Amino acid sequence: MAKVLVRKGKKQYFEDLDREITVIKEKSFYLDQTSKPFSTQYGEISAASLKKTGTIKTSRGKELRIFDSSFIDDYMRIKRLPQIIPLKDIGFIIASTGIGGDSVVVEGGTGSGALAIMLARLCKKVYSFDVEQKHIDVALENVKTLGIKNITIKKQSLYDPVRVKNADLFCFDLPSPWDAIGTAENSLKPGGFVISYSPTIMQAADFVNSIANNDNFLHIKTVEMIERPWEIEKRKVRPRSKASIHSGFITLARRI
Ligand SMILES: C[S@@+](CC[C@H](N)C(=O)[O-])C[C@H]1O[C@@H](n2cnc3c(N)ncnc32)[C@H](O)[C@@H]1O
Repeated sequence: MAKVLVRKGKKQYFEDLDREITVIKEKSFYLDQTSKPFSTQYGEISAASLKKTGTIKTSRGKELRIFDSSFIDDYMRIKRLPQIIPLKDIGFIIASTGIGGDSVVVEGGTGSGALAIMLARLCKKVYSFDVEQKHIDVALENVKTLGIKNITIKKQSLYDPVRVKNADLFCFDLPSPWDAIGTAENSLKPGGFVISYSPTIMQAADFVNSIANNDNFLHIKTVEMIERPWEIEKRKVRPRSKASIHSGFITLARRI
């Protein structure tokens, strides 16, 4: 069981400055093992304290909050080899296809397994495919670390048919997704959804134009999810000046 430690920022009034300032910025640590003492700039934390939850003290008497990591704490620390799909886009995929505990999903390229893992948290079964063994190895390690049991990862190109039938959702994150339309067509049940995720709009357009020529699919929409983080500190309230806005274009289509 991993733990999260948080040292909260403290305010102090400085007379010569005539104002209250933050002397310690909020700082958190993620510990994937708790069998040995852990050293921080605030002092050492004994192995016995690391087993607790609530408020603990370091060897220098500083207070920290400690709690068991949740799935998302562990997920945010998975190994990344190829670029992963961010949470904002995964949220859209899940909500717009309505997948759940009875759904079977085919997806690929597996990459680091980020999307596959999130889908497996919700769905009955995820079949994931990639052509690069080093990516599969990283994804398998991530799947194991997170204790996910319902993902099968195979080394195979999604430009060739896969053996899964009657899938509820087929997700591509591939260099040429239009070459995988036939694979999705064979695997999806009527009414099943296709998601194609592409970093560039030309890939998205070529995918949509290909699917438009296939009578067995209905293009529903192509979207870009914009997440705009804000900085809020007292009355300093404004969009964060450094934020990565673009991740990818998501095309949603339906097998009819
Ligand atoms: C950007 S990564 C996918 C990241 C993944 N969606 C995630 O969230 O971790 C793209 C992956 O597609 C794989 N790939 C490329 N061509 C492929 C093909 N024909 N069939 C299956 N996977 C392929 C690459 O090896 C790479 O791992």
